[in-house]
Amino acid sequence: MVIKKIAILFSGSGSNLEKILEGVHGRSFSTCKIEVACLICNKKDAYGIQRAKKYGLETTIIEHANYEDRESFDRKMVEVIKASGAQLVVLAGFMRILTPEFTKNVNAINLHPSLLPLFKGAHAIEDSYNSGMKVGGISVHYVNEELDAGEIIAQECFKKEDMNLEEFEEKIHALEHKLLPKTIIDILDNQK
Ligand code: GRF
Repeated sequence: MVIKKIAILFSGSGSNLEKILEGVHGRSFSTCKIEVACLICNKKDAYGIQRAKKYGLETTIIEHANYEDRESFDRKMVEVIKASGAQLVVLAGFMRILTPEFTKNVNAINLHPSLLPLFKGAHAIEDSYNSGMKVGGISVHYVNEELDAGEIIAQECFKKEDMNLEEFEEKIHALEHKLLPKTIIDILDNQK
């Protein structure tokens, strides 16, 4: 069976990373087996690094602070991703703005905790909670040079009802943990 390799980039807790390792990594689907070939984190103390170790996977730490500009940081990541043979890059809580050095050289998808194109940026959960909207949601989209603006691949939404912010956030994470692994499988398993 064909093996398809992915890279995962993260910056923090890595709960979405763990769901991919649990439900996708090393598993066979209808047309392919998917393997995580590369993990990159820009924060050396991120908890996700420990989560990956439980699956026997080491993370390459690439600290943005050690690079003189965004472009050179992005070039380093692209070099590591290309060397791993990954054909799809998954941004799972990766909190850096990416330049064309990255976006033009790899095929990447991102998880975002709002119903795009609404509430782009780093405060999406608070912004959508505080908006007058009756629903909240999440999106998985292709990454391009514009922040949170690439083509939308998949979305889920839910009614806010009388949730407090904490419950709203929990609901978002619960949906994310299902939608991101499913979208990776859909993309790779349906690819010709
Ligand atoms: C998720 O809510 C994702 O939408 C956002 O960052 C968070 C990452 O959480 N981009 P985790 O590190 O996967 O737990």
